Amino acid sequence: MPRTTGNYRNSTVAGETVRAFVPATLPPDGPPLRVEGPIDAACARAMAAVGRLEVAASLVPSTEWFLYGFVRKEAVLTSQIEGTEATLRDVLEFEATDRTAHEDDVAEVCNYVEALTYARRELAKPKGLPLSARLLCEAHRRLMRDAGTRRGGDKKPGTIRTSQNWVGGTRPGNARFVPPPADAVPGLLADLDRWIHGRDPLPALVKAGLAHVQFETIHPFLDGNGRIGRLLITLLLEHWGVMRSPILYLSHSFKRHQREYYDRLSAVRTDGDWEGWTRFYLACVDEAAEDGVSVAQRIFALTAKDRGRLMSHTGATVAAIHLLDLLPSNPIVTVPRAAALLGATAPTARKAVEVLEEIGVLHETSGRQRDRVYAYQAYLQALTADERRG
Ligand SMILES: Nc1ncnc2c1ncn2[C@@H]1O[C@H](COP(=O)(O)OP(=O)(O)OP(=O)(O)O)[C@@H](O)[C@H]1O
Ligand SMILES: [Mg+2]
Repeated sequence: MPRTTGNYRNSTVAGETVRAFVPATLPPDGPPLRVEGPIDAACARAMAAVGRLEVAASLVPSTEWFLYGFVRKEAVLTSQIEGTEATLRDVLEFEATDRTAHEDDVAEVCNYVEALTYARRELAKPKGLPLSARLLCEAHRRLMRDAGTRRGGDKKPGTIRTSQNWVGGTRPGNARFVPPPADAVPGLLADLDRWIHGRDPLPALVKAGLAHVQFETIHPFLDGNGRIGRLLITLLLEHWGVMRSPILYLSHSFKRHQREYYDRLSAVRTDGDWEGWTRFYLACVDEAAEDGVSVAQRIFALTAKDRGRLMSHTGATVAAIHLLDLLPSNPIVTVPRAAALLGATAPTARKAVEVLEEIGVLHETSGRQRDRVYAYQAYLQALTADERRG
C-alpha cells in the first residue's frame, strides 16, 4: 500500500540540520482511504454509540447537565495528556469558590473550557469566524493565556510559529518527529481549511479524525498543538452535525491508549497508514461514547433517586428543590453561590443547603466553620466513575 505521505525538507534549528516533514494535502491518496470492510463496521459502531450518547443526554431535564460536566471532563483529560495534574474536582471547586491549591493546572483546564466556549460561540454567530486556522489561532490565544509566565518561555498565544519545532526528544536531532519548516505552515493550514470546507464525500466522523492527524503533523504552534487539534475534532463533530453538543469526551480514550495514539499519528507519516489511524480513532470514539452513556445513566438514576428522597422529606422547601435541580451544573456550592444561583437571600439559600445536607445529597468538605464548601459527592463520583478504569 506504499503511499507518498509527504516529503522531507532540510531545516536548520539550533545549529543542527534536520529533516522536516511536509505532509501531502488531504485527502489520503494513492490509493484513497476507503470506508469499507472493518473500517466501515467500526464507523457504524462508533456512529451508533454516539447516537446512544445523545439519547442518554436527552433523558435528563436539561442538556446543560451533561454539557457542564462532560465539557469539563474533556478539559481535564485533554490537559492530562500533556501532564497537567488538576482533577475534575479541583476545577469544579475552583469554579465554586475561586480558590484552589493547584492554581496553574486548574487555570490551564479553565482556559480550555474558555477556548471551546469561544469557538462554539463564533461558529454559532451569523458573522462569526468560520471553522478555520484563524478561529483555531483565536482559540489558542485563550488556551495559552498566561501559559508563558506559568511554564517559562513564551508560547506565543494565538500565533502561528515562525521557527522550527520538534516532537519528542530533547533536541531536534533526536526528535521523534520534526514538523514542517515554519515557512510551509501557513500554506499547509490554508490547504487544510480548503479541505474542511470542500466536498470530500467521506463520512464526517472519519473526516474529523483525518483533520486531527493533519493538524498534528503540521504542528502550527509552539505548544498546545495536541489540545487545539483535539478541540478541532470536537468542533468539527458539532459543525458537521455528527453531534448536537460537545458531550463526547474523546480525550479519555486517547489518554488511555496514549502510546498507540502517538504511534498511530507517526504511522500515518512513516507508512501512510491512514487506515490504521482511522480504525484506532473510531474505536476511541466508540469507547468514549459508551463511557459517556454509562456515566449519563448513572447520573440519571442518581438524580431521580435524590429527587424522590427530597420530595418525601418533610422539611423540603421550594428553594431546596430548585437547588437540587441546579446541582448537576454546579456540583460544588457555597451558601453565597447557592444564593446567587437561586436568586434568593442568604438565609433561604442556607436553609436549602441544610435540607440537602440532611438528606445526604450535599456534604461539607472544607472542615471550616466559615466559608463552608458543599459537594454533591455521589454526583461527582458518578461523573468520574469511568476514570478508575485508568
Ligand atoms: N509522533 C507524532 N506525530 C504527530 N503528532 C504527534 C506525535 N506524537 C504526539 N503528537 C501530537 O502532539 C501533541 C503534543 O504537542 P504539543 O505539546 O504542542 O501539544 P499540547 O497540547 O501542549 O500537548 P498535549 O500534548 O496536550 O498532549 C500530542 O498531544 C499529539 O496530539
Ligand atoms: Mg505541550
